[in-house]
Amino acid sequence: MTNKTTRTIRIFDTTLRDGEQTPGVSLTADDKMEIARQLSKLGVDVIEAGFPSSSEGEKKVVRDIAKAELTSEICALSRATKGDIDAALACDVGLIHVFIPTSPVQMKYAVNLTPEQVLVAAVDSIEYVKKHGVKCEFSPMDATRSELPFLKQVCKAAQDAGMDSLNVPDTVGIMIPKTITKLIEELKTVVTVPISIHCHDDFGMAVANSLAAVEAGAVQVHVAVNGLGERAGNASLEEVVMALHMIYKYKTGVNTRLLYSTSRMVASLTGITVQANKAIVGENAFAHESGIHTRGVTEKPLTFEPIKPELVGRTRKLVAGKLAGTRGIKAELEEIDIHPSEEQLKEIVQRVKDLGNKGKMVTDADLIALTSAVMGEVIGEEKIVDLCDMAVVTGIKVIPTASVRLVLDGKEYIAAETGVGPVDAALKAIQKLTSNLEKIRLSEYRLEAITGGSNAVAEVVIKVEDEKGNIVSARAAREDIVMASVEAMINGINKCLIKNRKQGNKK
Ligand code: KIV
Ligand code: ZN
Repeated sequence: MTNKTTRTIRIFDTTLRDGEQTPGVSLTADDKMEIARQLSKLGVDVIEAGFPSSSEGEKKVVRDIAKAELTSEICALSRATKGDIDAALACDVGLIHVFIPTSPVQMKYAVNLTPEQVLVAAVDSIEYVKKHGVKCEFSPMDATRSELPFLKQVCKAAQDAGMDSLNVPDTVGIMIPKTITKLIEELKTVVTVPISIHCHDDFGMAVANSLAAVEAGAVQVHVAVNGLGERAGNASLEEVVMALHMIYKYKTGVNTRLLYSTSRMVASLTGITVQANKAIVGENAFAHESGIHTRGVTEKPLTFEPIKPELVGRTRKLVAGKLAGTRGIKAELEEIDIHPSEEQLKEIVQRVKDLGNKGKMVTDADLIALTSAVMGEVIGEEKIVDLCDMAVVTGIKVIPTASVRLVLDGKEYIAAETGVGPVDAALKAIQKLTSNLEKIRLSEYRLEAITGGSNAVAEVVIKVEDEKGNIVSARAAREDIVMASVEAMINGINKCLIKNRKQGNKK
């Protein structure tokens, strides 16, 4: 009897081959090398680096990756032709993945070969690879739509020709766990070499089918980061690995803590963003919004977190929204060291719910902005400096200029300044005016958080310093960067002035 807990499953990553076949994706040689290094660090067993016969450039990249002395084994894809295999051999890879269609529809319309010709080409190709002392994984493409007796005949002949492993492609993703289980069991009656599985996600079944194949005896799974690949993609690396580790208690060589950073790197280099609700690596995968959930996870993470976020390189996110509860918002604010009073918290929760009811997603920056409004770092009568109005001009062949009208200690003043940009000009104009009261200069400026889209909320964090060396920080968040900067600056100046006056009064 197999001891399930000790099984180790090999991870064959095809991000750089099938993943690169994702419509719209085209990676440069540098991108491919960067991803290969990351995959090796991640700990995948095999990196399918590319399809050398497709171009001279691709051949060079595969060769460079093979030469890079990565820990993972490097594989090249090849059709069952001498020319393709020669191109793969020229890359000095340790493993060549040879494929040829075996389904009636693909034999006839994709390669125009008879079943007899397919059988001969498969055998000849495997023998040719083996003659060169290189390992060979063989794929009967579209295995899942092939006639079983013919598929078995090809697989048996491939084994006799020396294939080292058999990969079973569900090329158009039409299997369900029950049928893939049956197919693996059937193939096990004719081959003894290790069996690998390659599932596409046309019906959203790639991960489930891959896992079913493993249960049926496959020892290797073809995956791609973020589920990239032809059409709807391949089985997603992160989902397969985490299910193997956490549900099946099987082992892989993958360092799961690098899953998120790997996903981010691939998303950024391929330009294919990950959907927010994607398992493991989606932005919402560890975010909790409703009151009952946020209360549960802050009390005991296991309540709504089947995976510890840090295990996959992530952190928990408590999201404020119309379903948010007081406890969740309090915990979220405490995490960033904001401690509102009971009264203020009640008001913050109410405003979050109001925004949520208007259909607006309340981002962290929005939450901070409305919290500081409620907490009123500087509010109402205490304000020494207040903005009446402001105008900025910027553009090409125009010197960025800002004019600002402020109330200082109850009196109105106007100033204009130029700067390297509209923010610089506006902040200079404010400092010019407030220097009438006290010299307060901007000592630090950070544009800290921008949440998606050109109408995103931008958060500005500043530090201002007075002549005595007192430093005060302030922040503001707005969709308009200039306004956020001005608001933060005025807030900071007010805090500084109020502090100084209070200190003065005490003396
Ligand atoms: O999906 C598929 O059949 C493939 C083959 C090249 C194995 O990617
Ligand atoms: Zn594929």
